[in-house]
Amino acid sequence: MNLILMGLPGAGKGTQAEKINEAYHIPHISTGDMLRSAIKDDTELGRKAKTYMDEGALVPDDVTIGIVDERLKKDDCREGFLLDGFPRTIAQAEALESILKNMGRTLDKVLHVNVAEDQLIERLTGRRICPVCGATYHVIYNPPEQAGLCDLDGSELIQREDDQADTVKNRIDVNMKETKPLLDFYNDKGYLVTVDGDQMIDHVFQDIQSAIKQ
Ligand code: AP5
Ligand code: ZN
Repeated sequence: MNLILMGLPGAGKGTQAEKINEAYHIPHISTGDMLRSAIKDDTELGRKAKTYMDEGALVPDDVTIGIVDERLKKDDCREGFLLDGFPRTIAQAEALESILKNMGRTLDKVLHVNVAEDQLIERLTGRRICPVCGATYHVIYNPPEQAGLCDLDGSELIQREDDQADTVKNRIDVNMKETKPLLDFYNDKGYLVTVDGDQMIDHVFQDIQSAIKQ
């Protein structure tokens, strides 16, 4: 199954991707996670991406297209993949089409998680992540059992650097501009399914499962 998960920053893509990965056993490919890991490892790619990410701007298309192209060729993607946060521009969507065409593959569904803008700011500023295993929490909506500590490994939770209030606003604005044409692009091709992301996490997942079966 070849899936794309779309949605504005904070819509719940990462949260739902974890559940899709558990249920369908397809690799979760998040360009945001890959770029953050490159920054942590201080690679050339990471240094290039950091300035853009710190401002909440989009990293140049050639960078993200290159890393997705490389990742999709790995063995674990043979049975399917779940792209999260890519494509984010029409140029990226067109590049993905040609990457898949060269591999003799097509998309199955583009799942769009739709959440009202005012909710997104609250979700992002309240998000906490585990620096060790990457698990995502929210101080109100999805708190860990013990405040500030990861349920899975007990590590101290941290806030993502781009989740500060001023950067959050810019990320949402930048992505809003790019999203509409992308939704039209996939709607025209018949892949797009929109799911109401303004519900409890498990209810959103139930709707995603129904959308996948459609
Ligand atoms: P990326 O890491 O992709 O970030 P994003 O799109 O801004 O999305 P987020 O990860 O912030 O949100 P999410 O939708 O995954 O929400 P989550 O599940 O965590 O990208 C970061 C940066 O990398 C970009 O700004 C850009 O610079 C660069 N980049 C990445 N890809 C790129 C590309 N293709 N091209 C160019 N640049 C690129 O949930 C958020 C919070 O809400 C959590 O606390 C969660 O617990 C909570 N929550 C989730 N669901 C619910 C719910 N249903 N109800 C209540 N709370 C909920
Ligand atoms: Zn953890």
